[in-house]
Amino acid sequence: MADTNAKLTVNGEEYELPIIKGTLGRPVIDIAALQESGFWSYDPGFKVTAPVESKITYIDGGKGELLHRGYPIDELANNAEYLEVAYALLHGDLPTAEQKAEFFEKIREHTAVHDQLRKFFEGFRRDAHPMAIMVGVVGALSAFYHEDLDVSNEEHREITAIRLIAKMPTLAAMSYKYSQGEPFMYPRNDFNYAENFLYMMFATPADVDYEKNDVITRAMDKIFTLHADHEQNASTSTVRLAGSTGANPYACIAAGIAALWGPSHGGANEAVLEMLDEIGTVENVPEFMEKVKSREVKLMGFGHRVYKNFDPRAQVMKETCDEVLEALGINDPKLELAMALEKIALEDPFFIERNLYPNVDFYSGIILKAIGIPTSMFTVIFALARTSGWISHWLEMHSAPFKIGRPRQLYTGETRRDFVKVEDRK
Ligand code: SDX
Repeated sequence: MADTNAKLTVNGEEYELPIIKGTLGRPVIDIAALQESGFWSYDPGFKVTAPVESKITYIDGGKGELLHRGYPIDELANNAEYLEVAYALLHGDLPTAEQKAEFFEKIREHTAVHDQLRKFFEGFRRDAHPMAIMVGVVGALSAFYHEDLDVSNEEHREITAIRLIAKMPTLAAMSYKYSQGEPFMYPRNDFNYAENFLYMMFATPADVDYEKNDVITRAMDKIFTLHADHEQNASTSTVRLAGSTGANPYACIAAGIAALWGPSHGGANEAVLEMLDEIGTVENVPEFMEKVKSREVKLMGFGHRVYKNFDPRAQVMKETCDEVLEALGINDPKLELAMALEKIALEDPFFIERNLYPNVDFYSGIILKAIGIPTSMFTVIFALARTSGWISHWLEMHSAPFKIGRPRQLYTGETRRDFVKVEDRK
């Protein structure tokens, strides 16, 4: 696959480094030959490093383009169901009608969780953050499937992907119900994926006339799709690195959930609502912007490592936000505040010079709040949706030989020194 070579001369030695082109996007320079050079490459934050080859998702940050298996994200979000997108991430193409029916049935068969798992929740305080619960219970799932944990067995890998995608909504809803002190709701297999999640979140055993809301269901499904996968982001890279040790997929997904929780990553949607609460009204925006420019705070929901133009997901999310608020007749002052923030930021040189635009998290929280989902559940929903992406990358890694991920470092610590007894230490 190498087309031409880059040349590197260091310490009088010249190294030929193969340049490898992909289907789209930047070619890569294979630096394996550095092994002989006595040097490591150095790239904190992996800003210019491609640790893997992948066929799943392509992002062009300059054009604001996001493709899942070649399909543009806006076309998927506006026309497909989330589970169809999950199928494409897993298998390479959108499903035929027959494949769709079979896949949807498989997911329906695995939405329930072992009843013993309910006891895991009882160990948490009622006010535990649902992400803390999710990290725990998803990792614990491996304890219920000992018979299907051979990562070298393709059938075990396949059924685990189905189980994880099927059970994340159930576990997510359980983490919410537990925090509310309400009984867990069993999944209803006559509901579609998003309907089922909303049912398990908001219905109670006393509801004899629970009613689905098609606008909210469609919005929820779109939000799942917009969060399904995103190339080698921090949590997906975490899943791959954990997977490279041969760890079981439940443990790898739990590691991904833990990484996603950070406010610079998936925790941003929760942080956006907290930021809007802190600002309060449009009149306070100029003062808040001064705090951003002085680097006292970040404008949450803005900026992205890859998108330096616009995040195509944010555009679809904004459209969905307008649809949901209109359908529900909600005039949320937070939306007006968010739009005022966006307008000011897009006209301000500080943000323009730094290519800071709304990302996927900027509007999602406003929709979720309108649906009645508490802020603490926002990142849980992100994790629920991203599970199809995470497990697709895990499967892709296992589809070919791989080595354990073991980066090196630039060491700037102490040179060798002798041990000193405690009584002689100064
Ligand atoms: C997600 O990787 C993915 O694909 C992630 C994701 C996915 O789907 O998996 O897309 C999901 O995580 C979206 C991002 C959600 N996070 C936020 O909204 C938190 C706020 N954003 C920032 O934390 C930041 O923009 C990052 C972390 C998203 C990106 O950071 P980078 O690429 O490392 O950029 P940087 O920190 O080098 O910033 C460059 C400059 C700096 O200014 P200087 O110090 O050079 O003057 O821009 C500034 C930063 O201070 N900056 C911001 C800012 N983001 C960057 N200033 C104010 N507000 C911000 N949000």
